[in-house]
Amino acid sequence: MDILNDDRTKKLKAFDDTKSGVKGLIDAAAGGVVDIPTIFIRPPDELAEDLEVTRTSLLQIPAIYLNGVDNKASSRREKIVEQVKQASETWGFFQVVNHGIPIKVLDEVLKGAHEFHEQDVEKKKEYYSRDPERTVKLNTNFDFYLSRAANWRDSLIIDMVKSNHLDPQNLPSICRDATVDYISHLMKIADTLFELLSEALGLESDHLKQLECEKDKNVVLHYYPACPKPDLTLGIGKHTDATFITILLQDEVGGLEVLHGNKWVNVEPIPGALVVNIGDLLQIISNEKFKSVIHRVFGNVTRSRTSVGCFFHGASTPPKTYGPIEKLIAKGSPKLFKEFTVADYLMKFYSRGIDEKSGLNGVRI
Ligand code: OGA
Ligand code: NI
Repeated sequence: MDILNDDRTKKLKAFDDTKSGVKGLIDAAAGGVVDIPTIFIRPPDELAEDLEVTRTSLLQIPAIYLNGVDNKASSRREKIVEQVKQASETWGFFQVVNHGIPIKVLDEVLKGAHEFHEQDVEKKKEYYSRDPERTVKLNTNFDFYLSRAANWRDSLIIDMVKSNHLDPQNLPSICRDATVDYISHLMKIADTLFELLSEALGLESDHLKQLECEKDKNVVLHYYPACPKPDLTLGIGKHTDATFITILLQDEVGGLEVLHGNKWVNVEPIPGALVVNIGDLLQIISNEKFKSVIHRVFGNVTRSRTSVGCFFHGASTPPKTYGPIEKLIAKGSPKLFKEFTVADYLMKFYSRGIDEKSGLNGVRI
């Protein structure tokens, strides 16, 4: 390790030891201007690269209305499946509207997340941890020690991977009921989405469910504090998700951007909508029919932003082997990826910064 890196590691550790997160920096500035510590500042080559990728407000990820979806074998359902297919092939991202989760449930979980992160820093310290054994923990980006620049956000991570079960008592009381309520509604939508995705791949409705793609998951309450210099540090750097799918609820502030072609497209907040994106694992098992697309979060100068992500990782315990679905490998479309286990894929994913090259390359044939 060279001296520079060593110095950076020391700074990272000192920041982590405060257990106060990025929000702690804002609190400490008490209304004054926040100086962005160097550990958050993106490297010059990345900043330069940014200048070459433009933003567009002329494009938008597809919005899919789910009303009528439960009417199986109807032309309405077929139309929805076609929209899911198009969106998953071309964008890797779409929003679902009219999905049936009451607005109040969505508002309450966003409010709970916001209130958790805006509490007095002393109340949050007991949750601040990087201990893999803890099922509920708070930290400033999970790849803190590996990424080239730390991210301007704090996250409360609820891990339902090991137990596939949530003990509400482990959740902070300030967001407990709202989070439990949201998760129980979300699981019904997740069921529907995995059915639609199966059908969009030309498979039986329950194919992805049979593969236990829905089994293990994390629910994460993200908080992106207002950022005085959003061009210098990102809410989350560009990455793809190591999931089958991710379902995200965002508040009205905006800032999530999707790389489409060579342009960043801002995912416009639609009240009551959920953002769905295809992750690496679905790209692999669909033999690349569906795409896991690069995205990032750009900060807002004056407003903080809250989002709640649900990351479906698939079955990790007991280990299960995944690979391209046999039916999707045809003459013109040879098998593109090797078999893998989720635990192995995640281990590789978590042992590098998410701003590094996609983990897909590691399993490509
Ligand atoms: C993520 C992510 C986007 C958001 O956590 O992987 O892309 O808007 N989050 O919080
Ligand atoms: Ni993501």
